[in-house]
Amino acid sequence: MRIDIITVLPELLTSPFEASILKRAIEKDLVEVHFHNLRDYTDTKYRNVDDYQFGGGAGMVLMIEPIDKCITGLKSEREYDEVIYMTPDGETLNQKTANTLSMTKNIIILCGHYKGVDQRVRDLFITKEISIGDYVLSGGELGAAVLCDAIIRLLPGVLNDETSALTDTFQDGLLAPPVYTRPAEYKGSKVPDVLLSGNFGKIEEWRESKAYERTEKLRPDLLE
Ligand code: ADE
Repeated sequence: MRIDIITVLPELLTSPFEASILKRAIEKDLVEVHFHNLRDYTDTKYRNVDDYQFGGGAGMVLMIEPIDKCITGLKSEREYDEVIYMTPDGETLNQKTANTLSMTKNIIILCGHYKGVDQRVRDLFITKEISIGDYVLSGGELGAAVLCDAIIRLLPGVLNDETSALTDTFQDGLLAPPVYTRPAEYKGSKVPDVLLSGNFGKIEEWRESKAYERTEKLRPDLLE
C-alpha cells in the first residue's frame, strides 16, 4: 500500500512514522508513506499557500492551485483509490472505514489548515472526507497520523501476531474482553480462574460473554 500525505506542516507528522509499529511496517516495505509539503507546489515569492476568504471573515483558506498541482502530479503517476480530506465536518472515523481503507492500494490524504480549503478542492478532487471526532484540531495532520495508524496496523504482516488485529475492540462490533498477565494473584486481586484452566473452549466462551457485558455497559450504542 502507498499513502501520499499533503500538508503545510510535514514536521508535525513525521515522528509517528519513525517509531514502533509504523516504522517497522515501512522498513518491512509493507507500506510506503510519502509527505508532500504544499509549499513546494507554489511559484510565488513567499511560497504562500493560503489567502483571505472572499466575502470577508476571519481565518485563512488554503488555495486551490498548489493543491491541484500536487494532486494532479501524483495522479499522473498512478491511480488512487481515494483522495481523502481530513476535516472536522467529515464522516467520523471508525473501524469499518479503517478496514475498508486498509484494503486499498494507493490513497492521498490532504490535511486541512486554518479555516480549511477552497471549496472547489473538495468539489473537484476529494472522494472522501474524514473527521477523527467532534472537536476541532489546528490542522488535519494529527488526524492523518491517527488515520494512518488505524489503517497500517491492519495490513497483513504488520502486527507480529497475525490474529491480534482480528481480536481488537470493534473488529467484531464489540469492545474487547479484559486481559490479564502474570502474576496470577496481585495483592489479593486474582485473575479469573477460567483463564488459568487450560480449557480453551471455556476461555473463548468467557471472553465472548465478557466482551458482550462490557459493550452493554460502556457502549450500548454498538449493540443497537
Ligand atoms: N482537522 C481539524 N479538526 C479535525 C478533526 N476533528 N478531524 C480531522 N481533521 C481535522
